[in-house]
Amino acid sequence: MSRLLVPGSLRLRFLLAISLWVVLGIGAIWFSATGIFTKHIEASYHEELEVHVRELGRLATFGEDGELRLSRPLSDPRYEEPMSGFYWQITADGRKPLRSQSMVIGKLDEQIAHSPEILHTLEKGPSGPAITYGFTRPAPGGGDIHFVIATDQSELDRLISSFTRDLTLWLVGLGALLLATGLAIINFGLYPLDRLSQAIGRLRHGDAYELEGEYPVEIAPLVADLNAYVHQNAEMVAKSRVQAGNLAHSLRTPLAVMTDEAERLGETAAGAESSKVLLDQARAMKQQIEYQLARARFSTGQPYNARRVHLPEVAEPILRAMKRLHPDKRFLLDASQCDSVVLPLDDVDYSELLSILLDNAGKWAKREVRLEFLCDSSSSFTARVTDDGPGMSEQELSHAFEIGSRFDQEKGGSGLGLAIARDIADALGLLLELSNTPAGFAASVCFRSSEINR
Ligand SMILES: Nc1ncnc2c1ncn2[C@@H]1O[C@H](COP(=O)(O)OP(=O)(O)OP(=O)(O)O)[C@@H](O)[C@H]1O
Ligand SMILES: [Mg+2]
Repeated sequence: MSRLLVPGSLRLRFLLAISLWVVLGIGAIWFSATGIFTKHIEASYHEELEVHVRELGRLATFGEDGELRLSRPLSDPRYEEPMSGFYWQITADGRKPLRSQSMVIGKLDEQIAHSPEILHTLEKGPSGPAITYGFTRPAPGGGDIHFVIATDQSELDRLISSFTRDLTLWLVGLGALLLATGLAIINFGLYPLDRLSQAIGRLRHGDAYELEGEYPVEIAPLVADLNAYVHQNAEMVAKSRVQAGNLAHSLRTPLAVMTDEAERLGETAAGAESSKVLLDQARAMKQQIEYQLARARFSTGQPYNARRVHLPEVAEPILRAMKRLHPDKRFLLDASQCDSVVLPLDDVDYSELLSILLDNAGKWAKREVRLEFLCDSSSSFTARVTDDGPGMSEQELSHAFEIGSRFDQEKGGSGLGLAIARDIADALGLLLELSNTPAGFAASVCFRSSEINR
């Protein structure tokens, strides 16, 4: 349901449009059905009353005593039931009026019956406003006989309101059914878009190389274009990487020649100063080339085409390599907290990042390097490399990620490791932090996402 209420979503738009359509349709049906029903029920009611007043006229006779009486009761038994709302009355000048048994109290206004034509009006009856019909007929001894028949208006109102209530309930039910089917139609219609968004999710997480699946003709061209774009993009990235690598390589030889020449120049007294400047510049250029070559190796953080990181398997080959590289140091792995985590990252990039941190720790540790995998919470994961070496001062920490920063000239290195590590972390969306802790110097890589699988 929550997906339906996302502001601006297609689902919400369709839902609003369908709701409006259903409300208008149902409203129109309600309005016209009650109007037509009221008209018809009123017409048939009036017809029935007219029939009754005619029947009353036919049944009325004079007894032997000259008084008014009916030859038989009216065919509708409701005229016999006290205060039933159905009444009749016959009056003639100088004679005792005759009234239906239902009319226990009150009387009808005989003035409604003042012509041989049947007339009707709304009058006050014995039990409230009444639809009254009447006509006159000449009495045998002179004067008029007034035939009046009346039915409570409330009877008609009751019929109409009971119909309206039933119709309203039925239409509300129909409206709910239409809305439910409307929702089902929305979901059915938008299902291919849901599949598309899942396919994009798989592509983003590196589970697929392109948008997979069959799509309806309306969106199939879009999917084909997107796939073409994804492939083109991957090819472009790969090509650019090769070109960057080629460029860096092609600069190496001229640079070596220039360095050679500068060194030779430095052997002469006049050229010593210039040689120093040239050598410094050549060193800076060499550093940049190495840096760009290293950068070209990692995958720019694009998750598609990536193989995912399975922990701690990814760490084991790196640790074996580090033990060979720094044989006098102990490398320990602690993955007890999360022994089967899968991260939606490129494992080559992640391994490169861990290698840089473990190599530094191996270089500066006194005896021991510890690699820990910590699952802080369901959406946060940290890899921490701790060594028992001297660590860095605050001043060094603030420059540690700069290209070429080296604070210990005794150990070999080009000062590029941490700069590259920072680039990889940024590209993968990871947080890389260095700190001096009571347990030693620590480099932590933190990953925050709801996409961590355990
Ligand atoms: N674990 C550590 N303990 C103490 N100092 C460190 C540690 N890691 C890095 N450093 C300091 O930070 C500097 C920069 O490290 P970085 O990895 O960038 O370069 P590098 O190790 O000197 O050379 P490279 O990694 O390019 O071979 C190092 O020269 C060192 O002075
Ligand atoms: Mg290093």
